[in-house]
Amino acid sequence: MAQTHFGYESVDEVEKAQRVRGVFDSVARNYDLMNDLLSFGMHRAWKAYTVAVANVRPGDKVLDIAGGTGDLARAFAPRAGAQGMVVHTDINEAMLRVGRDRLLDEGLALPTLTCDAERLPFADGSFDLVSVAFGLRNMTHKDRALAEMARVLRHGGRLLVLEFSRIAEPLRKPYDWYSFNVMPWIGKFVAKDAESYRYLAESIRMHPDQAALKAMMKTAGFGHVDVHNLAAGAVALHVGVRC
Ligand SMILES: C[S@@+](CC[C@H](N)C(=O)[O-])C[C@H]1O[C@@H](n2cnc3c(N)ncnc32)[C@H](O)[C@@H]1O
Repeated sequence: MAQTHFGYESVDEVEKAQRVRGVFDSVARNYDLMNDLLSFGMHRAWKAYTVAVANVRPGDKVLDIAGGTGDLARAFAPRAGAQGMVVHTDINEAMLRVGRDRLLDEGLALPTLTCDAERLPFADGSFDLVSVAFGLRNMTHKDRALAEMARVLRHGGRLLVLEFSRIAEPLRKPYDWYSFNVMPWIGKFVAKDAESYRYLAESIRMHPDQAALKAMMKTAGFGHVDVHNLAAGAVALHVGVRC
C-alpha cells in the first residue's frame, strides 16, 4: 500500500481516507460555527468572491465537490435558476446531511450525492462549472481528483478551487503561531476536538502552494489557470479553463 500524508504523519492511503472521514464525522455538527470562529468570518468573504468569479448564469450546470455544509451550492442555485442545475456532493455523509438539511430549511432541494472526487459518477463533459472549496487538501490523490474534475467539465468550462495556500512571508510566523496554538485550543473548547483542528493546521502546510497547484491543474487538462490570492495568500482561488 502506497504511503501518503495525513497532516505531518506518514500513513498508508487507506488509513488516510479513514482518518479524513473521522475528522469530518467529528466536526460536521459544529463545522459552520467553527468556520466562523477560526476565520473571523472571513470564509464568507472568500466564498462570496468565489461566487462572484464563478458568474453562474441561468441554465448553467454546476457541480460542487466536497460541498460539505453547502455554502457554495446555496449561493449558486438561485443563479443557475430553474433551467439550470446545481449538484451538491461530498464523500462524507455527516457533512452532506448537515448541508442538505440547511438547504432544505432555506427552501432549496438540490440533487445531493455522496461521492468520491477521485471517481466522479458523471459522464464526460456534463458540467459548465465545477467548484471545490477547502476540499482538495483532504484528497489522497489530488492529481486524480483534478483529472476527474477536468473530465466532467465541458470544453471551455471552468474549475474553481478555493483552498488554503502559502501566506506572504512577513505573516508566516504569526500565522503559524495562530494555527498551531489558537486553532487547536478553540477546537478543544468549542468542538471538544483539538486533534481535528491540529490536522487542519498541518494539512494546510502540506498542501501544494499557489504555483504547484497551478502546475497540477495544467497537467490535469486546464490550459489556462489564473491564481487569485486572498488574505495575503493564506487562501487562493485557482480558476482553470478546461481546454
Ligand atoms: C473543510 S470541508 C469543506 C466544506 C465546504 N466546501 C466549505 O467550503 O465549507 C472539506 C470537505 O471535503 C470533503 N472531502 C474530503 N475528501 C473528499 C473526497 N475524496 N471526495 C469528496 N469530498 C471529500 C470532506 O468530507 C469535507 O466535507
